[in-house]
Amino acid sequence: MPATLPAIIEDLRKSVVTDRLRRDPRSSPGHPLGLDRTSAAEVIGWGQANFDEPFEALSAEDRVLLYAYWNQRRHLEELSEAFRQLFSAGRPKDPLIVIDLGCGPFTGGLALAGQLGPEDQFDYIGVDHSHAMRTLGERFAIATERIDSAPQIERHWSATVSEVDWQPPPGWRPVVVIVSFLLASPSLDVGVLIDELEGILARLSRGDTTVVYTNSSKPDPNRSFPAFRDALTRAGFRVLADATGDVETERRTLEFRYALFHRRQQRTLQLGGD
Ligand SMILES: C[S@@+](CC[C@H](N)C(=O)[O-])C[C@H]1O[C@@H](n2cnc3c(N)ncnc32)[C@H](O)[C@@H]1O
Repeated sequence: MPATLPAIIEDLRKSVVTDRLRRDPRSSPGHPLGLDRTSAAEVIGWGQANFDEPFEALSAEDRVLLYAYWNQRRHLEELSEAFRQLFSAGRPKDPLIVIDLGCGPFTGGLALAGQLGPEDQFDYIGVDHSHAMRTLGERFAIATERIDSAPQIERHWSATVSEVDWQPPPGWRPVVVIVSFLLASPSLDVGVLIDELEGILARLSRGDTTVVYTNSSKPDPNRSFPAFRDALTRAGFRVLADATGDVETERRTLEFRYALFHRRQQRTLQLGGD
C-alpha cells in the first residue's frame, strides 16, 4: 500500500505554505511566486542554498517557502515512513527528546507529530543556521499546537548545536536524533558535527539514543556518510540499518538512502585515570 502523509500534515502544509503561496500576487497556477519547478530549484540551490540571503528579487522568506513547497514534502514522506516503522512495536513510553540537525522548517518535528497522538509529548530541538528556516519552522509548530489530535511539543530553536538552550540536568529520557538531507551541505564538517552531537547528548540525557539518517540516494550527497557512520560507531552506536530503499507514495516511488543507529542507555560510570 502506498505511504500517505497523515491528514494533519497535509492540512498544516496547506495552511502554512500552499495557501500562502497561492495568495501571493506573483503566483499563478503551478507557478508559486511566478516560478516553474526548474527555476525554483535554482532559487533554493537544490536544497543547499544560504537561505538567509535574498536571491535576485526574492527574499529569504520567499526562498524557504519555495523550499517547503517543492522539497519538504518528500522528506516528510520518507521520515514519516521511518518513524512509522520505528514505533510499529509501540509508541515511546517516556517523552522523547528530539534533536533535528539542519532541521529546515520543522520537517522532522512534523513527521514525528504525524505518527504520535495527543497523549504523547516530546521536546523538539531544531538546529538550523538559517533564521528564515527556523522562523517558518516555528510557524509550523504554532499551527501544530492548535490541532487537538497532535502531541504536545515543547520547542527549542537554535542556530548551532553548542548554543542550544537546555536547562534541565541530564536524565534518562530516550533521544531521537534526526539527520535528514543535511550531509549534502557543503558547509558541513562531519567531525565537528559528531563532537557537537556528543556534547549536546551529554547535556540532555544518558538514555537510549536513536539516530535516523535520510538522504538522497545519489552518491555525492552521501559522500560524508562513511565518516559519519564511523564516528557514530566509535561513539558506541550500533548500525541497525544502512540501505538504499524505496518508499512508494501515491505520487511516485521515492528512492532514498536510509540509516538507523542505536546506542543503549549509558549506565556505566566513566572513570578517569588508566
Ligand atoms: C536540505 S535542507 C534539509 C532540511 C530538513 N532537514 C528537511 O529534511 O527538510 C538542509 C538544511 O540544513 C541547514 N544547514 C546546512 N548546513 C548547516 C550547518 N552546518 N549547521 C546548521 N544547519 C545547517 C540548511 O540551512 C537547511 O535548512
